[in-house]
Amino acid sequence: MQPAKIAPRDRLIVPLDLPSVEAADAMISKLGDAVTFYKFGYQLAYAGGLPLVQKLVGSGKKVFLDLKLHDISNTVARGVESVARLGATFLTVHAYPQTLKAAVEGRAGSNLKILAVTVLTSYDDGDLHAAGYRLSVSDLVEARAQQAQVLGVDGIVCSAEEVAHLHKIVGHQMYLVTPGIRPAGAVAGDQKRIMTPGRAIAAGADYLVVGRPILEAADPKAAAEAIHIEIAQSLV
Ligand code: C5P
Repeated sequence: MQPAKIAPRDRLIVPLDLPSVEAADAMISKLGDAVTFYKFGYQLAYAGGLPLVQKLVGSGKKVFLDLKLHDISNTVARGVESVARLGATFLTVHAYPQTLKAAVEGRAGSNLKILAVTVLTSYDDGDLHAAGYRLSVSDLVEARAQQAQVLGVDGIVCSAEEVAHLHKIVGHQMYLVTPGIRPAGAVAGDQKRIMTPGRAIAAGADYLVVGRPILEAADPKAAAEAIHIEIAQSLV
């Protein structure tokens, strides 16, 4: 099934990587209508952020729960059922076959889409080797993407550098969601495989996750709008 057409302004996902619900609320107010799609990760989810998910969904925003689940199958499936009831649009799980299968089972009958995390964008071949893998980043990403597609997963989180190659592997049947995005001149931080918003969209990324270049900007709303302009220019 071809993923539904994405509204250009929904292509930017801003992670609320902030320490408290108050800080998140303040950032959401600052960003206003510049952002339609928010991502929650460990930091805010474990700081009492989950009720904010329902509030945002109730106000018409979309939410990506980046909880990167990985556990025994029954625990994953039941956890995913609970996440689906929160009204989230996307949920990440680590791309291990048992976990992917359980997540697809858990989201059945809901609007929740499952995204597989192949290899974290802060990892390079040396980091994988240190973790005991003999595969390169690109080989492991490819193997996990193929498994995810076979198991009925809706999308893949990957670096923008991998997008063109992944389209060759999984076609255009899955959403490709890319963190590791940095506007020209922005600080890379701990991201090792980065690309500008315009180049990522041109390469075929469906959604861009852009955190610190917006959250740490003097004017976060202006930073988000500048990325929208870059996205729109790359879509024509
Ligand atoms: O601040 P920055 O733009 O680097 O934020 C990227 C976001 O995307 C963070 O919330 C990070 O946890 C998330 N992410 C990532 N790499 C992945 C999956 C998620 O950087 N493979």
